[in-house]
Parts: sequence; C-alpha cells; structure tokens
Amino acid sequence: MSRFPNAVLVAAAALLAAVTSVSAQDAALGEKVFARCKACHAVGEGAENRVGPHLNELFGRTAGSIEGFKYSPAMTKAGEGGLVWEDETLAEFLAKPKDLVKGTKMAFAGLKKEDEIANLTAYLKTFSANAASGAATPAAPASDAPEAPAEKKSEAAPDAPETKAAAATEAAPAEAAAEVSEEVPSHGVFHLGRPATEDEVAAWDIDIRPDGAGLPEGRGTVAQGETLFADQCASCHGDFGEAVGRWPVLAGGQGTLMNERPEKTVGSFWPYLSTVYDYIRRAMPFGNARSLSDDDVYALTAYVLYLNDIVTEEDFELSKENFTSIRLPNEDNFIDDDRLSEPHYAANIEPCMKDCKPGKAEITKHAAVLDVTPDSVDDEENTGGGID
Ligand code: HEC
Ligand code: HEC
Repeated sequence: MSRFPNAVLVAAAALLAAVTSVSAQDAALGEKVFARCKACHAVGEGAENRVGPHLNELFGRTAGSIEGFKYSPAMTKAGEGGLVWEDETLAEFLAKPKDLVKGTKMAFAGLKKEDEIANLTAYLKTFSANAASGAATPAAPASDAPEAPAEKKSEAAPDAPETKAAAATEAAPAEAAAEVSEEVPSHGVFHLGRPATEDEVAAWDIDIRPDGAGLPEGRGTVAQGETLFADQCASCHGDFGEAVGRWPVLAGGQGTLMNERPEKTVGSFWPYLSTVYDYIRRAMPFGNARSLSDDDVYALTAYVLYLNDIVTEEDFELSKENFTSIRLPNEDNFIDDDRLSEPHYAANIEPCMKDCKPGKAEITKHAAVLDVTPDSVDDEENTGGGID
C-alpha cells in the first residue's frame, strides 16, 4: 500500500465525492421507495394521519407520540420504553416492523434491501428539521432535539435504554437488519401472506351465539324496523314478510312443520334469535350486505319478531340487554347433538365398511317414486320458502 500513496489518496477522494453526491440522489431514490408506504402514510406539507401516522419531523420523535393517532398498545409502550426514531431504530423497524415492535399494527412485511432503507431514510429526512439533511452520520440523540413533538413522552421515559426495544436496537445495527429479514417468518416458510391484524380479525369476527355472546351494543324498535323494512326489504320479502314471488318468506308457517310442505320461517322453524340478527347483519339486504348499522339490525330483528307475532307492541325495543330474554317458538324442537351417547357410538365399535349386509342386496324403491322433483316451475305448490 505504501508504494502507492498517491493512488490511495485519489481513491479516497473519489470515494468521498461519491458519498456526498450519493446523498442527494438517495433522497430521490427514496421517494420511489416511499411509494410502498404511501397507501398508509403521508409526509410533506399538510400531511395528515391516515392508516398510519404522518411522518413529518420523524427523526428524534418518540415512537407512538403523534397526538390524535390511535396507535397499537405495543407502539405506545415501545415509545414509553424509550424507543425514538433515529437512523438505526428506523432501519431496524423498516426491515421487519414486527420484530422491533412486537404487536405493532403496521401491516407491512418489511423492506428487504439495505440500500432501499438508506434511500428512504434520506428521503424522510428532508421532511425532518431535526435531521441534518443528507448527513451520513447517525441522527442526533433525542435529547439534542428539543423541538421534537415527542418531547413530553420522552421526558417521562427512563433514560437508560433498558426496554426490550431499545436493547434490541443496540444489538442489531442496520446491516444486521437486512439479514434478519431473509429469515423464515414465524408464520410460514413460503414468505407468503402475513398474520391478520387485530382490525382485520375484528371485521370478520361477527358471529353471535344463542347465549348472546358477540352481540354489539345497540338497540332498535319495531316501529323503526318497519320503516327500514319497507325501504330495504319489502321489495323481496313483502310488506309483511309474506314474500314477493319466490323470494323467501319471513313470517307465518306456524304449525306447518309436520305438513308435506312445511313453511319454514323465523317464526315457525328457527331455533334462536341470534341467528336472525347474525343473518341480517351478515347477508341482508341481499346484494348490499354489511350496509346496515348495528342499531338498524336490532330494529329489523325486532320487526321480524313483530311480523311473527312474537312481540306485539310497535314500541317494543330490542337491545343487547333484553336480547336473550326473547325465545323463538320452535327452540325446544332442536336438541343438542347427543351422538356420543347413542348406543352405536357409545359402544365405540368400528363401523362396517364392506359386505355389511349378509346375502344379496335388493333395490326396493327409486327416488322418482318419492316425487321430489317439481313437474314445472309454475307449479304453485313449489313456491314456499325457496328461490329459483
Ligand atoms: C398497510 C399500512 C402501512 C404501510 C404500508 C406502512 N405503514 Fe408505517 N405504520 C402503519 C401503522 C398503522 C402504524 C402505527 C403502528 C402502531 O401503532 O403499532 C405505522 C407506524 C409507522 C411508524 C412509527 C411512527 C410513529 O409515530 O411512531 C413509522 C416510522 C412508519 N410506520 C414508517 C413506515 C414506512 C417508512 C413505510 C414504508 C416502507 C411504512 N411505514 C409502511 C401503517 C403502515
Ligand atoms: C333483493 C332481494 C332481497 C332483499 C332486498 C332482502 N333480502 Fe333477505 N333474503 C333474500 C334471499 C335471496 C334470501 C335467501 C338467501 C339464501 O338462502 O342464501 C334471504 C334471506 C333472508 C332471511 C333468512 C330467511 C330464511 O328463513 O332463511 C332473513 C331473516 C332476511 N332475508 C331478512 C332480510 C332483511 C331484514 C332485509 C332488509 C334489510 C332483506 N332480507 C332484504 C333476498 C332479499
């Protein structure tokens, strides 16, 4: 090396030049990377919170500290534990958000490439007065950034970085982060998908049990339900639940269950009111499912009860509180599945799967004889309860 001192110097100078010129370019490249954050985050003048908090003045800001944004408990806790957004913490977070802040609701798998993270960091710094723009050195610690909006919380936080998040930061600098993101994620080996977020689970988790578990807060009267029903349901189900054409009948049919063509309605057949609430909320009005408010569904359920003479007052109000006091007439005809106590199952004998009938099997009846298939679509008898 000492034989080419000049060459080394030149190389060093070139390297320096490269470093400084790259910084400006970094931010431009970083803007492109930011496209992947844009669905959820805004940055720049007038940026507001969206799915995620705005990212202005991010550097030196305590995690989870934007007033008015609803963070996950995990992010709030990380901030209280001393997590501050700097080059290193951000790099680690962006490489694998769920690793740095376990339980964060940021539904983003992570950026795989170190240079993407570096460029993005340079870009975000252009919106942070606290970050010397383009500086290649790590951002100043939070204590040097008195203007950070996070000040109040970072004061409250202990100075010693004893929390898991802060400790992890020290142990895993930016270089290691890229490596970490190549690991097999805990939820699978194919690098496909991600665990559902709490909000996503909540949106699907709407079932209601007969004992009332899962009912949302809310209430609605028969009279309110009648108005909603006329507007949104009667076109198919008829003004009184008698059904238009071949759409399903919602009322009546009591006492027909033993008939050859029973009319199965909420009043005559259904065992539990929870199913009515669940069904309407989940699936009705047909073609515009999930458009009703919880109160609307209480009102409509009350109206369906009224149509079936199960409640009789127009000012009857159905609510989460009195819901389970309502019983449907046919409940008792439904029994728990007691299969395991039936002799065959109770004896725990392997079922016969071959040559079970001794001797020759004979055909004694054909399905056609049972006459289950209607002769024509105009057959008046076939309109009950079904659709085409
Ligand atoms: C699918 C939406 C989504 C995407 C995509 C997304 N984020 Fe987030 N981000 C969030 C949410 C939601 C939070 C709040 C997390 C919490 O409270 O746990 C968050 C939090 C953050 C935070 C912490 C902010 C604070 O105030 O503490 C940073 C920094 C961040 N995101 C940066 C990014 C960057 C950079 C990208 C792109 C590489 C990105 N996010 C992509 C939704 C997203
Ligand atoms: C466009 C026609 C249409 C409209 C409007 C409509 N429904 Fe339905 N409804 C249906 C159909 C079709 C079914 C049966 C769906 C199936 O079996 O898969 C049904 C089934 C039902 C059932 C279950 C009936 C049973 O015994 O199986 C209830 C309860 C119900 N609807 C209530 C409502 C309420 C309340 C509204 C108004 C908010 C509404 N529907 C609006 C077409 C409609």
